[in-house]
Amino acid sequence: MNTPGAELALPIDDSALADRLRARMATVEEALYGHASSRAPYVTEAARHLLAAGGKRFRPLLVLLAAEAGPRPDADEVLTAACVVEITHVGSLYHDDVMDEAALRRGEDSANARYDNLVAILTGDWLFAKSSELTAQLGPEAVRIQAETFTRLVEGQILETVKPGPDEDALAHYLEVVAGKTGSLIATSARYGALFSGAAPEVVTALTEYGELVGTAFQLSDDILDIASESEESGKTPGTDLKEGVPTLPVLMARASTDPADARLLELLDPSRSDLAADAQLHAEALDLLRKHPAMAQAQAYVVARAQEAKQRLQALPEGSVRTALEAFADVVAVRSA
Ligand code: IPE
Ligand code: IPE
Ligand code: MG
Ligand code: MG
Repeated sequence: MNTPGAELALPIDDSALADRLRARMATVEEALYGHASSRAPYVTEAARHLLAAGGKRFRPLLVLLAAEAGPRPDADEVLTAACVVEITHVGSLYHDDVMDEAALRRGEDSANARYDNLVAILTGDWLFAKSSELTAQLGPEAVRIQAETFTRLVEGQILETVKPGPDEDALAHYLEVVAGKTGSLIATSARYGALFSGAAPEVVTALTEYGELVGTAFQLSDDILDIASESEESGKTPGTDLKEGVPTLPVLMARASTDPADARLLELLDPSRSDLAADAQLHAEALDLLRKHPAMAQAQAYVVARAQEAKQRLQALPEGSVRTALEAFADVVAVRSA
């Protein structure tokens, strides 16, 4: 994986803006390591494991970028908020890999694989506690926002483990999961940036809505990549959702097919079967058929439409390099390859 924070996960044409963001991301990076430090050395080691492994640092970058929409982009609170969202995110990855029984994260062993489930869960808890401590420095409004965000994130993760009822629309259920587990924290990242740089209330609202849509698009494209990409690109094991029986957008779209040529795929994607987890051959067959299916392109088009919607929210911002960079952010999220 990439060296954390060394490169911005986003093309930015305005070189002065890019330089500024790069310098601030380096400050955030250093601060993150400082925050991931405990009296107990083994906690520090476990907490820094995924930080050191890399990651795109999308959320803190979004905090910094959204802060450019306000009069005080370099306020200390902006940097603290950037740390809050990355630490919350990393904590959620420790827990997520336990839930998903994932062995690989950020190109390294997941914490559950490297240590065990107990260490992974407790380290995730410790990171959440740390992010709460930091949020307290930002005042009561941030504490409220953080609590609401975290409730949504955890509810999204829980909801994913509950299958939709027979009368419930599977796509609506999935979109609710996605908005909760991922949209919430990315919305808060944009919101914190705008809020702590002193942006006008209508800009804070527009950027929060933008973040929610971008966050949703981000998770949807992550789910497409779970099917389409190889480990070398994503740093994760492909086909994890299929193995765990989590139906994502391409699967939901493929299931709607009435084409007789799809009979074998539909049989493999039947919601009542649970043998893909244990049978590597069946799993590989399903993954292969799905990769070739038009539902992949259909899902991708849906994601691009969500990113377009996100960009429309940016009309509340003046034209210029910050708005252009936020537009590029939405585009990158929609068509990302890692
Ligand atoms: C992974 O998030 C989990 C999702 C919400 C899709 P990222 O794709 O941002 O993971 P890192 O931080 O780059 O490793
Ligand atoms: C991750 O969702 C969501 C959170 C960590 C809150 P996924 O399980 O879909 O993400 P990956 O593919 O493991 O990164
Ligand atoms: Mg996962
Ligand atoms: Mg998961």
